[in-house]
Amino acid sequence: MATADQIKRLIKAHIDQDNDKFRTVVLQIAAYEAKLGHTKLARELKTLIEKAPARSRVVQFDNQNEMLLMSMPDDKLSDLIVPDELRKRIERILDEFINRQKLHRYGLANRRKILLEGSPGTGKTLTASIIASELRLPLFTVQVDKLVTKYLGETSTKLRQVFDSIETITGVYLFDEFDAIGADRSMDNEVGEMRRVLNAFLQFSEQDQSESIIIAATNNQKILDKALFRRFDDVLHYAYPTEKEIEQLFNTKLCLFDPSFKPDSDLIRKTVSLSHAEISRICDDVIKQSILKETTITQERLSRLVEERLSVYDREAL
Ligand SMILES: Nc1ncnc2c1ncn2[C@@H]1O[C@H](COP(=O)(O)OP(=O)(O)O)[C@@H](O)[C@H]1O
Ligand SMILES: [Mg+2]
Repeated sequence: MATADQIKRLIKAHIDQDNDKFRTVVLQIAAYEAKLGHTKLARELKTLIEKAPARSRVVQFDNQNEMLLMSMPDDKLSDLIVPDELRKRIERILDEFINRQKLHRYGLANRRKILLEGSPGTGKTLTASIIASELRLPLFTVQVDKLVTKYLGETSTKLRQVFDSIETITGVYLFDEFDAIGADRSMDNEVGEMRRVLNAFLQFSEQDQSESIIIAATNNQKILDKALFRRFDDVLHYAYPTEKEIEQLFNTKLCLFDPSFKPDSDLIRKTVSLSHAEISRICDDVIKQSILKETTITQERLSRLVEERLSVYDREAL
């Protein structure tokens, strides 16, 4: 059955008298039900909403597609701690999507093919969830490892199925760990499978005229083909947090548990070489420690956890 979140969104769309949103939520519920194997209900929902007096869009469900993992994330842009410039660029993607009809009237397209690149644990996957959630679209994560099979030739067929879905079910499609298919052509194996897959991706992506947002994310900018960058409407760069961002991360992660705790400058400085994901984990660890040992959060306890994590790198460097 529809999730509580979907029901809330449906009611909100009704209250706001937002037909488009109402229709989108019904289609999301139908897609969700189809994914659960409730195809009869999905079809009924789809028929009902198509009878509603407004533009209708034919949606087909491909619940056989094992490469796509569907979710309905609930993350807010305010959860993301990034430089203002990056936040503005994400806002621009959201804004252009929301106002896409207005742009279309002037022959312009909203930016919807996005490449996210940068260090691991800096919020690329989270950004895809946020975009889906803020636009109330389902998030489809493309299982790139399942896509790149060891069977020659099959990959392009699978990729076509993914693009069929992009066309028929509007959503945010995340090609996570994109380097698996985007790797530099010169690093190709002798059978040229990677090149074929990448070319197929570029070709499908170029032909794609859907409303879906396509996001490719990679930790490894260097191995990506330069020509590839030009094919995206936007390339967003992710980096490790600055001191100011580290402070913000500690504050937001710990404030629910202990609003009075504020990280001091020594602690922040010590944390500088860690990613957002690692700092989040340290915050979870210190909260767990406080619960289990019935202690409060202190600079020292956090500092020890930071050192513990840093020492892993020292050992790796040996
Ligand atoms: N910029 C960020 N702001 C807030 N939290 C973050 C950020 N980056 C990462 N995190 C935390 O770390 C987790 C993992 O990050 P993720 O988005 O998977 O990183 P990436 O995809 O860049 O490797 C997130 O779910 C979130 O809890
Ligand atoms: Mg990721």
